[in-house]
Amino acid sequence: MNIEIRPVTPPDVPAISALAREIWQATYPGIITQEQIDFMLEQRYGHERLYDDIEDADKWLDQAFYNGRRVGFAFSELYKGEFKLDKLYIHPDVQRQGVGGQLIEHVARRAGKLGYPCVILAVNKRNEKAIASYKKYGFAVRETVVDDIGRGFVMDDFIMEKKL
Ligand SMILES: CC(C)(COP(=O)(O)OP(=O)(O)OC[C@H]1O[C@@H](n2cnc3c(N)ncnc32)[C@H](O)[C@@H]1OP(=O)(O)O)[C@@H](O)C(=O)NCCC(=O)NCCS
Repeated sequence: MNIEIRPVTPPDVPAISALAREIWQATYPGIITQEQIDFMLEQRYGHERLYDDIEDADKWLDQAFYNGRRVGFAFSELYKGEFKLDKLYIHPDVQRQGVGGQLIEHVARRAGKLGYPCVILAVNKRNEKAIASYKKYGFAVRETVVDDIGRGFVMDDFIMEKKL
């Protein structure tokens, strides 16, 4: 098994956007409605949005390759004075093989180098698989939040924290 982590560059944007749709469709039906999936994909993974994110000095977009195949990504950012793992998605074909763990380590190392005491993230309260993997990698629930994200949709999340 060969896992490689590289920064996302502008030519990668269409592939990352398509990969996000594929993983979201495998993850969120049953957790949020199809309408909310479509809305959030457009809001967060539209090509223009990803190009802007790549340009943003307070954001990092990392992608993972497994035996040469692009299989996942982790986006991290400075958010309200904290270091946040904002997105972590691994293709179902290769879940549970350590790719997510390596991306978490990669992001945590960056946060540590920048002097942050912890990494935080938000995860849907019903996303049990993800919560289990975050616990495995040292995250604990810090608080619960319900965030209005527009068009009548809310995110019903745990905020989790991993101390560095
Ligand atoms: C959550 C996720 C990022 C973890 O990445 P991964 O590469 O599968 O994780 P790792 O192989 O490094 O770690 C595996 C751990 O994750 C959890 N996990 C992952 N897939 C699981 C599954 N199908 N069932 C139960 N637990 C699972 C377990 O705790 C597992 O540890 P174990 O195998 O020792 O029991 C990945 O499964 C994923 O992308 N899921 C769908 C998208 C998602 O929910 N992303 C998070 C949004 S906040």
